[in-house]
Amino acid sequence: MRTEIARPIRLTDYRAPAYRVSATDLTFRLDPTETRVTTRLSFERLGESPAPLVLLGERVKLISIKLDGADLSPDTYEITPETLTLRDVPAQFVLETEVEINPQDNKTLEGLYMSSGRYCTQCEAEGFRKITYFPDRPDVLSKYTVRVEAPKIGFPHLLSNGNLIEYGDLDDTHHYAVWQDPFNKPSYLFALVAGELDVLEDTFTTSSGRTVDLKIYVDTGMSARAAYAMDALKRSMAWDESAYGREYDLDLFMIVAVRDFNFGAMENKGLNIFNASLLLADPTTATDADYERIESVIAHEYFHNWSGNRVTCRDWFQLCLKEGLTVFRDQGFSSDQRGHAVQRIKDVKALRARQFPEDAGPLAHPVRPSSYLKIDNFYTATIYEKGAEIVGMLKTVMGPKVYRTALDHYFATHDGTAATLEDFLKSFEAVTGNDVSNWLNWYTQAGTPRLKITQTYDAAAKSLTLSLSQSTAPTPSQPTKAAVPIPVRLGILSEDGTPQSFGFEGQSQIEITYVLDQPFAAITLTDVAAAPVLSALRHFSAPVILEVEEPQSHLFARFKGDTDPFNRWEAAQKLAQNLILTGGDVAPYAEALKATLLDDALEPAFKALIMALPTEQGLAQEMSPVDPAAIHTRRKAVKAELSRALYPTLRDLYDAIQPPTTFSPDAQSAGGRALRNALLDLIMAGYGTADAAHQSELSALASAHYARADNMTDMIAALTALMSVHGEPYEAALDAFYARFKDEPLVIDKWFALQAACPHPETLARIERLSRHPDFDPKVPNRWRALVQNLASNNPAVFHGVFASDSYGYGFVVDQILTVDEFNPMTAARLVESLSGYKRYASPYREAMKAALESIMATPKLSKNVAELTAKALD
Ligand code: ARG
Ligand code: ZN
Repeated sequence: MRTEIARPIRLTDYRAPAYRVSATDLTFRLDPTETRVTTRLSFERLGESPAPLVLLGERVKLISIKLDGADLSPDTYEITPETLTLRDVPAQFVLETEVEINPQDNKTLEGLYMSSGRYCTQCEAEGFRKITYFPDRPDVLSKYTVRVEAPKIGFPHLLSNGNLIEYGDLDDTHHYAVWQDPFNKPSYLFALVAGELDVLEDTFTTSSGRTVDLKIYVDTGMSARAAYAMDALKRSMAWDESAYGREYDLDLFMIVAVRDFNFGAMENKGLNIFNASLLLADPTTATDADYERIESVIAHEYFHNWSGNRVTCRDWFQLCLKEGLTVFRDQGFSSDQRGHAVQRIKDVKALRARQFPEDAGPLAHPVRPSSYLKIDNFYTATIYEKGAEIVGMLKTVMGPKVYRTALDHYFATHDGTAATLEDFLKSFEAVTGNDVSNWLNWYTQAGTPRLKITQTYDAAAKSLTLSLSQSTAPTPSQPTKAAVPIPVRLGILSEDGTPQSFGFEGQSQIEITYVLDQPFAAITLTDVAAAPVLSALRHFSAPVILEVEEPQSHLFARFKGDTDPFNRWEAAQKLAQNLILTGGDVAPYAEALKATLLDDALEPAFKALIMALPTEQGLAQEMSPVDPAAIHTRRKAVKAELSRALYPTLRDLYDAIQPPTTFSPDAQSAGGRALRNALLDLIMAGYGTADAAHQSELSALASAHYARADNMTDMIAALTALMSVHGEPYEAALDAFYARFKDEPLVIDKWFALQAACPHPETLARIERLSRHPDFDPKVPNRWRALVQNLASNNPAVFHGVFASDSYGYGFVVDQILTVDEFNPMTAARLVESLSGYKRYASPYREAMKAALESIMATPKLSKNVAELTAKALD
């Protein structure tokens, strides 16, 4: 029996709501299995003529229903598993319902559920309907008053959105709190938390002089670990004032960290809820990457207060209106905190690793999709990261001043309303007077555009003519594509790597941004003194695949001297990619890398990035058909050769870095650790091909790195280094690590993740063993993702079974998807993507991946989430 595919929701079917809700009053009588929710809604009809009132509700048991105070008889309303409909209602009325829900049983982690004995909520996108009957759609905004009642024991903190206006005792055993949010908000921004928590408190004074109380609630005993998040929050608040003129609007801002959460964090008004893994940090349990993520997610959720909450989305097709913009804003913050070049490289790496494959496969969808079955499936890299790139391009083309004025205009015009992408673009039109409608193509078209540049240098005329053309391959249901505006930032260097000026449109330039908004264009740079090296798409000025025909020597020139650090890194990556995929002499690359490492003018964090070879997943995007075994073997061989060629240099540099005696998570200190750990990584790559004496030296080096590590970053780096050694030293370190951190769930997640990501013939068997470990629990998304997602996304060699052709990781992943789909479809569905690229793979991978997808599809009673993605992947 196949799971039936339900009818999709379409953008073109959008209709404005029939009723508005002027006030929402909620009362929660909390109980683990029988929570009662009383909802009082003041409705006003929006249209002229009578219309039925359709409320959404799932898994809620209706106890009573009253209209303007009178009980309704059952023949006046209609209930389905997803709706409550009243056919005949006046133009203005108050509806009061009482429903019963079961938070304890709710393992979807959506709606009201329990995590570590605490009540918490997650409503975006469509979880509020699991709490009560409501017009649960983002264009219905309302003012909420929320009363929470619970036992005093076990639930000292009762939190919701807005301001606490009243609290007290109900009797000896129970108490209550009443919260009021003065701002209109859609239901997806509702939140409630109740339980035992410790709180870290601070204050922030806004630019207009208001004092805001800041409170971060965490597991008891953990408040010291919220200090970094608090610091990041204050920096975010200050940054949004200075960079965007956005001030916080309530007198209180709260964040709660929970262990059981389907994704990173949620921007509920005045009460953000975070996955604990993205909030808690101290040097012994968090890596620098964790600190960096925490800083950016704290900023992201805080920035949503304006881009998302004050101005929200009309419907879920506009999701990138808040997510793309907010990611762009958090990237800007991180970039100011941590350095523009390094941040840009990291953001582009993430875009290419997650979004480009999405755009190249059967799950490709526009940044504004036109239909969906489950909106949860569209919280994708395309909507978030590609959405952010579009905002970034607009800023590049318009310039920072116009961008800021347009954003001010957008916030001012749409404050308190639910907006669309057209509204966003119109703000740029309003400010510039120019038509920007061609930018809409970026939102409505899927697929990564290819930008081809050919160059002709005329030595006699000293002119360089560039022919630029763009094309986007067909994607599902979009056979033909229109041109999109592509900003191409470019400059030129001489063959030895020094920047050259040139003439363009009558002016002398060192760098220009040319916007290609047609399928094809040619431009001529004049006064080009000598044979030029083109440096195009600097700072990755557009999310496209660049194709330039040029000799290797040009790549080396950019690697050695491009003034644009992004393109310097990019050239190094391209050269490494060529070495791995097409072969060649490693020596010139090793020489250039050595020069880079010895260049004192470069930041350690940049050096660490340039040392990292392209990943196997990244290389797979450059090969057709993909042969994961060849990629793994070739990459490993090139890395080993590099390691051997550079050993004395790497070793000297490694030995010269004295890790500081006291830990600081700041960007500069993190950069120092990143470089030292990248050196160790490249040194250890020589292990497999070293002689016995050198092997024991390397093994000792990795073990010493572990023994000396006084922070999680260095510990993980040492454990990763010991993977090359494997055997006794690796096992001993893993055991010691487990013994030391067994009571730290966030660190035990890392212990699972690390083993799942180890590229070794024994890994699959180990992963299967770990799935039966007493600490493994598929009901906890963090733990489940640590093991299963890491296999599927971060360990291509083991996932594709390159060590033993008869045992792929696919079967294990499918079993896990099906297990989790029974109780948490949203989280299960995320893993389907790992199999979706099968058509790009060589035999026998292709057939085996396809069979794995078919086995999912053949399973009875799939969730809509998993069914939608699997059907699309197979299409
Ligand atoms: N809005 C949240 C964030 O900032 C994410 C919510 C994810 N919801 C979901 N159903 N996947 O980024
Ligand atoms: Zn977001």
